[in-house]
Amino acid sequence: MTDPSSSPSPTAESDSGEQRGQFNSQKMFILAAVGSAVGLGNIWRFPYVAYENGGGSYLIPYLVALFTAGVPFLFFEYAIGHKFRASAPLAFRRLAKSTEWLGWWNVLTCLVIGSYYAAILAWAGQYAYFSLTKAWGADPNAFFFGEVLKVAESPEFSFVPVLEDMWPMIIVWLVTIIIMVAGVSNGIGRLSVVLMPLLVVIFVALVIQSLLLPGASQGLNALFTPNWAALFNPEVWVAAYGQVFFSLSVGFGIMITYASYVGDREDMTGPAAIAAFANSGFELLAGIGVFAALGFMASAQGVDVGDVVSGGIGLAFIAFPAIINQAPAGELLGGLFFFSLVFAGLTSMVSILEVPIAALIDKTGWSRRPAVLVVMIPSAIVSIMVFGSTSGLYALDTVDAFINAFAILAAGLTTTLIVTWGVRKLSVLREHLNEDGTYHVGYWWHVCMGAITPALLGVSLVLEFINKASAPYEGYPNWYVAVFGWGVVVVLLIASAILSFVPWDPAIDTKDLNAVRDAKLKAESTGGHASISATTNDSNA
Ligand code: ALA
Repeated sequence: MTDPSSSPSPTAESDSGEQRGQFNSQKMFILAAVGSAVGLGNIWRFPYVAYENGGGSYLIPYLVALFTAGVPFLFFEYAIGHKFRASAPLAFRRLAKSTEWLGWWNVLTCLVIGSYYAAILAWAGQYAYFSLTKAWGADPNAFFFGEVLKVAESPEFSFVPVLEDMWPMIIVWLVTIIIMVAGVSNGIGRLSVVLMPLLVVIFVALVIQSLLLPGASQGLNALFTPNWAALFNPEVWVAAYGQVFFSLSVGFGIMITYASYVGDREDMTGPAAIAAFANSGFELLAGIGVFAALGFMASAQGVDVGDVVSGGIGLAFIAFPAIINQAPAGELLGGLFFFSLVFAGLTSMVSILEVPIAALIDKTGWSRRPAVLVVMIPSAIVSIMVFGSTSGLYALDTVDAFINAFAILAAGLTTTLIVTWGVRKLSVLREHLNEDGTYHVGYWWHVCMGAITPALLGVSLVLEFINKASAPYEGYPNWYVAVFGWGVVVVLLIASAILSFVPWDPAIDTKDLNAVRDAKLKAESTGGHASISATTNDSNA
């Protein structure tokens, strides 16, 4: 097979059949990319991670991680997706056959994340409803663990369903299936175009209301007071890299897939800068809004902010309801907060599931509807059985902690090393970005991707490995961590390798690139570009 990297960009039209969708416009692509990035990770994860890891001084590792790894990796994913116009496995394969397994690693990571993301989204949906009546009563902690989740005493292998949680999860999966069947432009694109502006309005209203609460400044002081000693703690750097990757939606193939739906000869560097800026801006805004509310709570109780706040899940579903109980117009605050979570989460959920769906379409040549159903129905069943059960919270906590470090960050590290030093394809991708890019990607990109990012990610991962291997995660039983932590990661790696040996239909594997090369040659001979506008066939399911 001709080295694909020397061939021009395939077009969506010539790609694996007309069933590949396309975003209608650059604006739609940017909103979808921001919609994917801004998610549960920004609203409930960032404020707490920032607070725990040095407050104001955490912004330093965060910004270093953003500029040395997040943005370069975003450029990388946009370049590979846009140049090779394919889902993650096929895009990697077209870059160099030996890297295909990295794409399957992304696909499987997304299947795992999607299955627990649905559970959190379902809780957020329930709480948006509960906030109308403050259904949690005087004790949000007991309500969340006892009545909503009915959490088992200890981690166990339970498939005892919590009926109250199953219905919201079924609704989340059904809504997501409907959006995914509607297609890239009509489903994902339109959802993002409607929800993202709405999310900004709701969130700005939430932040203003939070800032007006008495004691808000106490929360902001807690969030932004720098703890310089934290900068010498390696775990702070691990947290910053983990947050940036998860939050920007890089390292799990989403941006590769989305960039493959953008028309030929479009700027990729401008949208990458916008997505990174919008995501971090939203994250900071979330920090301000959430900590202003926590400051109110702390001053009302006469305690430190640190005594009000608890970890990620607790912050959203325990601390916030407690704040809503006491704040003036608390129902409004609650509605704004939980609807923000639902809107932000839904636009991220669809992006996560698009990765396996696009891969299946590329691999089989199927049309969109069967591919959506084949990916999503089994995922929904597993998701509801595992995460909608009485032990679902333990499973979610464990899987999330291991997947973030040993699937997303490890995929980031392996990808940078292989692409830069193994198959040496970074220059090809840089040329592609610079062909039509607003910003010229200079040699600094090679330095980040080839040296700084892998060095910092490598150190982060080694530390994280030592941390997780030295004591059972959260004190859970060893067998439990072995199954839901290490086990999930190992199965994911082995399955990615196996999938990369499944042969491709030669028509999909090679024909498109030849067709595109012919188009380019023809265009060159007539003095034009090989710009073939792709057809949007979202509804061709
Ligand atoms: N980037 C998405 C989030 O922050 C996955 O939740």
